[in-house]
Amino acid sequence: MRDRQDRTRRALLEREAELAAVDHALTDLCGSDPGDPSGTRTGGVIAFAGPGGLGKTALLGEMRRRAAHRGCTVMSARGGEHEQGAAFHVVRQLFQPVLATTGEEEHRRILGSWYDIVAPAVGLVVSGSGGAPDPQGVRDGLDWLVTRFAVEHAPVVMILDDVHWADPESLDWLLRVRRPRRGTCPCCSPSATARKT
Ligand SMILES: Nc1ncnc2c1ncn2[C@@H]1O[C@H](COP(=O)(O)OP(=O)(O)O)[C@@H](O)[C@H]1O
Ligand SMILES: [Mg+2]
Repeated sequence: MRDRQDRTRRALLEREAELAAVDHALTDLCGSDPGDPSGTRTGGVIAFAGPGGLGKTALLGEMRRRAAHRGCTVMSARGGEHEQGAAFHVVRQLFQPVLATTGEEEHRRILGSWYDIVAPAVGLVVSGSGGAPDPQGVRDGLDWLVTRFAVEHAPVVMILDDVHWADPESLDWLLRVRRPRRGTCPCCSPSATARKT
């Protein structure tokens, strides 16, 4: 199945420099020798900007494929023009698929004392009737979650498309998390007209 996908995948034209940057970042993150866990590994951020139709989504798709091929845990999300009013919409897209592979017991383990604040924000449980969550509390809890992820599932690659359409709550958190940290590599594509990264 994967062979067939690889054969039908369209080659990206004139993207040698961008793909070299992607490979460089993935090598920094994963180490050049997968058999040597002692090698120096660093996280980082790559951002691609350009007008619509230039190929940002296609480039991120290729990055996703290359990161998965190297054994990275790949998390991805996309900002939506019509979902900007939904708090933590982009964050939910990032975390839900990876968290959905396990049950409540594991969610409580990985979130620890942040469970009651973060689980509703990332859509693991229905929000209670206590009003909107405190965004600062959610952001602090998400810091904990992404740190646990980096420790337990490194190397982790976050791929964010159309960041200029991300909801403000997710964007605030992403701006904090974009500081390079060991074991993670966020990559995003804002449009040329709204540079928010
Ligand atoms: N480097 C490339 N070589 C060939 N086709 C490309 C390349 N980049 C993008 N495309 C094609 O161009 C179209 C628009 O690309 P897309 O990634 O959606 O642009 P953007 O996300 O910047 O709006 C898609 O059909 C895509 O397959
Ligand atoms: Mg696009």
